[in-house]
Amino acid sequence: MTKIEWKPQYETGIPIIDEQHKRLFARLDAVQRAVVQGSPREEIGDLLQSLMAETVEHFRTEEAIMAQHGFPDLLAHIREHELLTEKLGELAQRFEDSQDAMALLVTTFMGGWLRHHISEGDLSYARFIKSGHPDSSSGDLLLALWDQGAIKFL
Ligand SMILES: [Fe+2]
Ligand SMILES: [Fe+2]
Repeated sequence: MTKIEWKPQYETGIPIIDEQHKRLFARLDAVQRAVVQGSPREEIGDLLQSLMAETVEHFRTEEAIMAQHGFPDLLAHIREHELLTEKLGELAQRFEDSQDAMALLVTTFMGGWLRHHISEGDLSYARFIKSGHPDSSSGDLLLALWDQGAIKFL
């Protein structure tokens, strides 16, 4: 089974984001190991819950940073976060309803998603932020709107 791990190519250069990404990969690896080792079902369930909670927290951190900097693709990025959150919820529910091996679907799906999303989406806003982007005048307003939950798709 492929080990799910953070790699230097995923580095955004934004310390809190890199730390959170590393933790998410470590969480995914922990779920995978727990299933393979035949850990108790309750333990696997707890690991999945922690993974989901940290994923949601990470998304909120990223969205606040993007809003604060007036990142132009903010809405599309939030949409991707929402789709993953929904999918994770569905998979976790299926785990509750069936066998432990379902948890491996979470790690396989989210591992692939995370690699792709960081490479395509996260590195893009990180580049924007680090470039000192000329127009961030809308940042405060966007952050306020995002904070009030006014920026939503669903
Ligand atoms: Fe993201
Ligand atoms: Fe991210």
